[in-house]
Amino acid sequence: MDVSDRDSKCLVERPAEGFGLLIFGASGDLAKRKLLPSLYRLFRKGMLPERFFILGAARSGFNDISYREIISEVLSGNDARHVREFLRRIYYQPLSYDDTSSFRKLKERAGGLHRSLRTGGRMLFYFAVPPLLAEDIVLSVGGSGLARGKGWKRVVMEKPFGSDLQSARQLNRVLHRYFPEEAIFRIDHYLGKETVQDILLFRFANSIFEPIWNRNHIDHIQITAAETIGVGSRAGYYDRTGIVRDMFQNHLIQLLGIIALEPPSAFDSLRIREEKVKVFRALRKMSSFDVKDLAVFGQYRSGRMEGEKVPGYREERGIDPESTTPTFAAIRIFVDNWRWHGVPFYLRSGKRLKRRVTEVSIHFHDLPHSIFSHEIREGIEPNVLVFRIQPDEAIELRFQSKLPGSRLCLREVKMSFSYTDEASVDSLPDAYERVLLDCIRGDHLLFVGQEGVELAWEFFMPFIEYIEQDGSKGAVRFYSPGTWGPRAADGFIKKDGRSWWVR
Ligand code: BG6
Repeated sequence: MDVSDRDSKCLVERPAEGFGLLIFGASGDLAKRKLLPSLYRLFRKGMLPERFFILGAARSGFNDISYREIISEVLSGNDARHVREFLRRIYYQPLSYDDTSSFRKLKERAGGLHRSLRTGGRMLFYFAVPPLLAEDIVLSVGGSGLARGKGWKRVVMEKPFGSDLQSARQLNRVLHRYFPEEAIFRIDHYLGKETVQDILLFRFANSIFEPIWNRNHIDHIQITAAETIGVGSRAGYYDRTGIVRDMFQNHLIQLLGIIALEPPSAFDSLRIREEKVKVFRALRKMSSFDVKDLAVFGQYRSGRMEGEKVPGYREERGIDPESTTPTFAAIRIFVDNWRWHGVPFYLRSGKRLKRRVTEVSIHFHDLPHSIFSHEIREGIEPNVLVFRIQPDEAIELRFQSKLPGSRLCLREVKMSFSYTDEASVDSLPDAYERVLLDCIRGDHLLFVGQEGVELAWEFFMPFIEYIEQDGSKGAVRFYSPGTWGPRAADGFIKKDGRSWWVR
């Protein structure tokens, strides 16, 4: 497929206003692995304003110099001069999260940096901390006066936002004491993925798909987010979280929202958010009694992946050996509105699965009548439209075509657009680069609003309660690493006369 820069109609702006970024949890994994490298790439591409500073705050006792050393290691391999210039803008302040005097010192430090670097008091507070700490930090930020004063103040909250419906509501209440909703950015990094954003453009910048985007033409939809990695070093977080909170309540349901939403009247963040909220309101409600018919849960046992021995979930360091936390789930969801009446959405995600792939597939109806039934005995496969979110990012349409030759034979072929083949795109920007830039610009398109986050929790609570009640009674089944999860997951979709697209 031919694409060129000349053909693209876009506007990329560099933010002009200076700002300070205060990262809570600056010594943690997320800050080091994702945030600082993404900020560096934005800096190198000239996408950050002239005047900015990054102030890391965490319990570890670093100072500016030792923190810069750590970040410089993370950035090793990049252009040394650029890295040096970037590091000059990084500062560090040790912080006790439960000590008000520590927050007062932080406020003085931030104020001093704003004055000396003339960043206008504009401040982004980035919460790269576990949900349990978030509320206390918000209260201290508010109490210390850090959220007041000249220049905008914005908050960026990492997922998971809360750990259940009640805690999410509480966190929203506390945040709203100091920040209006438009100053709150709840991150779901899946929304920052190019391929996820492109689903919206694909749907609404082309006229041929929207007329068939409904129950009259679509049989069902599948969303798979499969990973090959295990929980690794995140045991403490994961064992309290599990797959439903970690992937479904946020990334997967957001993907469903984008696929299912009605066309907004403008490509405007608030209108898109509103349409997604309407989808979430239409999700068919259920109780924890219904869950066993609507979902399959699993946990990986020990085994081999690509010839290597890997431990089972319960043997990972820091995991309770009796844990019933699921690392896999497959869930069938219905959206009760006119467009999607009777169209199941199958969502599936897991760790230690066969291969790393995130894909959305739209499965169209079977032919109403085959004119080839005398010549071709086997059923003709229905059309499938695939959004490959990662890796090998692509959009594909599968259809039937004649196999060249004297006999009448059909074969399935694909029309494909691959992002990485595109000459004008050297590499797809990282999701964090995009979400960080949007927080700095104050654009809400890729963030989740209060109602959206609470509705998503409300929907998944019966699943979470079911696992908590019945997880130890066989509701969470074991699966071998390198497979597609417990066998029951195949039976689950087969029962409906369908099969998993990604396999
Ligand atoms: C995170 C989850 O939000 O998303 C992780 O906490 C998961 O458990 C990760 O591995 C997957 O993100 P990506 O971008 O690699 O698909």
